[in-house]
Amino acid sequence: MNNSITCIEHPLIQHKLTLMRQKDTSTAKFRQLLEEISMLLAYEVTRDLPLEKVSIETPFATMDAPMLAGKKLVLISIMRAGQGILDGMLKLIPSARVGHIGLYRDPGTLSPIEYYFKVPNDVHEREMLIVDPMMATGNSAIAAVHRLKETQPLSIKFVCLLAAPEGIANFQAEHPDVPVFTAAIDDKLDAHGYILPGLGDAGDRMFGTQ
Ligand code: URA
Repeated sequence: MNNSITCIEHPLIQHKLTLMRQKDTSTAKFRQLLEEISMLLAYEVTRDLPLEKVSIETPFATMDAPMLAGKKLVLISIMRAGQGILDGMLKLIPSARVGHIGLYRDPGTLSPIEYYFKVPNDVHEREMLIVDPMMATGNSAIAAVHRLKETQPLSIKFVCLLAAPEGIANFQAEHPDVPVFTAAIDDKLDAHGYILPGLGDAGDRMFGTQ
């Protein structure tokens, strides 16, 4: 798959995203909405997971029934805002394995600096979903994917809530092989690298750290 971007325009996602964007939405409500949207995103991005038939017994008969094939997914949260999407996705995919990568943006250069990295040892046997609500400049996403490619997962998808056109272009130039899924593509970035119209700082709104 080359330079694939999927904007998931399901009405429930769009409605909930509008509530999240509103500046008076409380921290608790923001978190709840992000969790709900993340479940819906997880539903969409896992559409193509391979199935295999296994023999089971119902109370009345035996049958060959479909189950997910292979090892469980690995979800990677880009800290700290990725935690919000991770929590929602884990509700839908509770047996997924989880990794974390910690990156912060240098306020001067907007470049990502890695401060934490922990993933399961066997990610090379798993399909990987990397989650971060905001793809702004794309720099964190690019750096995270470079680092995670070193672990050689079976596949990688990048899932966010909002993306800026600049971030998508930067990301696709660097990682054309990684499909991106988002709930919306906004207008542009401001001078500080925030998405406009956006929803503010996702981490601050999620954790009340403004
Ligand atoms: N990170 C955020 O939390 N918000 C933005 O608008 C951009 C990056």
